[in-house]
Amino acid sequence: GRVLLAYSGGLDTSCILAWLIEQGYDVIAFMADVGQEEDFEAARAKALKVGAKKFYVQDLKREFVEQLIYPAVQANCIYENVYLLGTSLARPVIARGMMEVAEKEQCDYVSHGCTGKGNDQVRFELAFYGLKPDIKVIAPWRLPEFYNRFAGRAALLEFAAQKNIPVQQTAAKPWSTDENLFHISYEAGILEDPNTTPPTDMWKLTASPESAPETPEQITIEFKAGLPAKVTAGNKTYTDSVEVFLALNALARKHGIGRIDIVENRFIGVKSRGCYESPGATILRVAHMDIEGLTLDRNVRRLRDEFVTPKLSQILYNGHFFTPEREFVTSCIPASQRTVNGLVRLKLYKGNVIVEGRNSNEGLYDERESSMDELGGFEPTDTTGFIQIESIRIKKWAQANIRKGQA
Ligand code: ARG
Ligand code: SIN
Repeated sequence: GRVLLAYSGGLDTSCILAWLIEQGYDVIAFMADVGQEEDFEAARAKALKVGAKKFYVQDLKREFVEQLIYPAVQANCIYENVYLLGTSLARPVIARGMMEVAEKEQCDYVSHGCTGKGNDQVRFELAFYGLKPDIKVIAPWRLPEFYNRFAGRAALLEFAAQKNIPVQQTAAKPWSTDENLFHISYEAGILEDPNTTPPTDMWKLTASPESAPETPEQITIEFKAGLPAKVTAGNKTYTDSVEVFLALNALARKHGIGRIDIVENRFIGVKSRGCYESPGATILRVAHMDIEGLTLDRNVRRLRDEFVTPKLSQILYNGHFFTPEREFVTSCIPASQRTVNGLVRLKLYKGNVIVEGRNSNEGLYDERESSMDELGGFEPTDTTGFIQIESIRIKKWAQANIRKGQA
């Protein structure tokens, strides 16, 4: 059979590649370019050397930004109040890229190096089945013949030596990462003790807030339908979707913005400690939530916050992207963002994103109406009745409390 392997160039997937060949499969290696810092040519050479029949690298950056990141930004998606979902967001585009190649190369099987305890196995496999229901999955880390044989790093290293798999000389970082243009994750290894402070040299995408410039930097983000249409920083402007993201990443990196550290609940139920850097995404979140204050109707906002934000966040985290409920939930987003147009001015300073002002022509905010200094068409006596009516049940409740207290 032919297998398409999600290849990373690292020790695990290189050993999986050699192991699949040993089991008699023809293997094609696949890499997605989702904006991670990567030497794709070195990975290609390594995969072919280990015995892959072919090597694919697909540039999925634009698709990633416009089809996955944008809806998440518009809906203010967040998992357990902290995690901006960077890894979850990349999985659907990677899976789609893989299913395209699997189709083209007539692969019956697809394989990956995800562990049996994580979220990514679920995300990848549900996405594969949601796109190509007849695909067969080989998940070596869930096969006893694989995980028993390669229990522990030493067995993997020994197998690598036997198969002439080059192992990087640089001492392996004592944690596992997943990087793309939205974020980088750090998990496992020394981070498994939730009370271990990440070493300062772990953080890769941002300067430390302490070493960030003493001088703040002002930028503006212009939103159209809840999306960043234009970023202005100094005398530079960015309008292309990918460029906007890269520019925000560079600004956030410089000012130490976007580091987090959480203990989260994985889909399968285990708790896991993760550290993340989501530089540009953090700026964008602050700015988007701010412009919504000025431009979004109260009840639309409440409905979106109660329903769309938590639901889509959970769908993304749990790998339910290619599902009818995801289509249903994302179909509401454009209707919620129609009025989210305007400009936010921000100050970036030592890990902070500080809003300095905003404006919009949407006209939901009326300075005269909101003013404390003039009536602006408002009848103060109307509010007397409003409060009277609102207080009916509250007075009843208070009276009942008093009666019970006296009985
Ligand atoms: N815990 C995060 C998530 O579930 C990050 C997962 C990182 N994945 C990886 N293969 N290193 O989205
Ligand atoms: C893995 O377990 O393969 C990575 C982490 C995760 O998927 O949650």
